[in-house]
Amino acid sequence: MKVLIETYGCQMNTADSELIMGILQTSGFEAAHTLDEADVIILNTCAVREKAEARILGRLTNLVPFKRLKPGLMIGVVGCMAKHLGEKLIEERPYVDFVAGPDQYRHLPDVIRNKRRNKAEILTQFDRSEVYSGCSSKRPHGVTAWVSIQRGCNYVCTYCIVPHVRGVERNVPADEIIAEVKKLAKEGFSVITLLGQTVNSYVDGDITFAKLLQMVANIDGIEQVRFTSPHPLGFSDELIDVIASEPHVAKFVHLPLQSASNSQLDLMRRRYTFEEYQEIVRKLRQKCPEIAISTDIIVGFCGETEEDYQKTKQAIIDNRYAFAFLFAYSERSLSVAARTMKDDVPADVKQQRLAEVIDIQQKISKQIYESLIGQHLEVIVEGYSRRNPEQAVGNTRDFKTTIFEKGDSEPGDWVEVEIESATSQTLKGRLVRVLKKGRAPTVEEQIDVGISLGPTEG
Ligand code: 5AD
Ligand code: SF4
Repeated sequence: MKVLIETYGCQMNTADSELIMGILQTSGFEAAHTLDEADVIILNTCAVREKAEARILGRLTNLVPFKRLKPGLMIGVVGCMAKHLGEKLIEERPYVDFVAGPDQYRHLPDVIRNKRRNKAEILTQFDRSEVYSGCSSKRPHGVTAWVSIQRGCNYVCTYCIVPHVRGVERNVPADEIIAEVKKLAKEGFSVITLLGQTVNSYVDGDITFAKLLQMVANIDGIEQVRFTSPHPLGFSDELIDVIASEPHVAKFVHLPLQSASNSQLDLMRRRYTFEEYQEIVRKLRQKCPEIAISTDIIVGFCGETEEDYQKTKQAIIDNRYAFAFLFAYSERSLSVAARTMKDDVPADVKQQRLAEVIDIQQKISKQIYESLIGQHLEVIVEGYSRRNPEQAVGNTRDFKTTIFEKGDSEPGDWVEVEIESATSQTLKGRLVRVLKKGRAPTVEEQIDVGISLGPTEG
């Protein structure tokens, strides 16, 4: 049987799709490369904002004709939206064959094989101990790999649905993570992104996140380690020191602020003040002057006044983030805010605030990226442009995506690029020289593994 997985949402879901594909292939399933080829289509879903769910529901509607054309075709919905909507999804969409939450992926091979006609399977239980030990992910061959080191979240920010669909925090044992990264390094992956909902709360015995980051960076063959997303609470000096001093750790931190108003942060139950957040930014920039910082912001959360909003806007201007993910508050059932607070900022005000901060951030990003024109930067080559295979795509040490004519460079190489132009999201330049050869994956290795990306969300 051939399976196609479409991924929606954050990087954690991308990593989960690779995990699901690994679990299924270990059980004898194969990857489908097109919808027509697929016997099973799995949507790995996001629930973080209403828009994300609406998009996936739209996609499900579009899949109905495929089911008519191919009797026996199975459609499964897994991930955060699956856990969120559960039975309701089956009631409203009887053509969905199975629904599985984030802790139920081990059971997917059995669910698919034993599926009876006209009876949907619903697996949405939490499993507080599930970290998928012993399961191997099926990754597309290449340079970059996601490695989940943590599942769930213990923070319960009031706006957020994540703890209610992904459950409590669980950390993957450090020895398993190290073994996994060593294996990846042998396979030619040299850029690793460690993933967790509050990744810096990771702990295994006396191994803190900072220690783990250092250990991963020391593994032979690993050139660059990134991580996402840390929480400002518990962003330790030890972690700042590793980021500043370890050459293999990216000089980049995604540090979600959400709001710069302390009363909003309190209502959001973020567990830090704006001043405490700024102190981390200050230390990061002091100890590591080349650091790039990005953030997440929510405008229009319950009770947000014009004054609260102005504080957030000013923080965006003052902090000069390399980029930012900016969102209008979207009420999510199950969340604390949905149960206990009033979503009282009018939709048009939310949208107005959102448009304004997007515009501001776009200008700042453009200025920052354009200020690099003329500089010679070190870039790790991660692959080729999908539109033009003559163009190589990589990232600078501070995680700025850079495009250039590939010349004699190959994926995995560190190269020197002279920056010639910039947008608010990418740098374009000229390959000056290859600085250090990597181990390039062959064309055959780069074949599609049957996982495609839905639109990004989260
Ligand atoms: N509405 C809007 N944005 C949200 N986020 C999380 N929950 C919501 C919500 N209900 C944003 C936060 C988080 C990012 C992943 O998504 O900024 O950091
Ligand atoms: Fe956890 Fe808060 Fe992040 Fe949601 S926003 S995943 S509750 S830390």
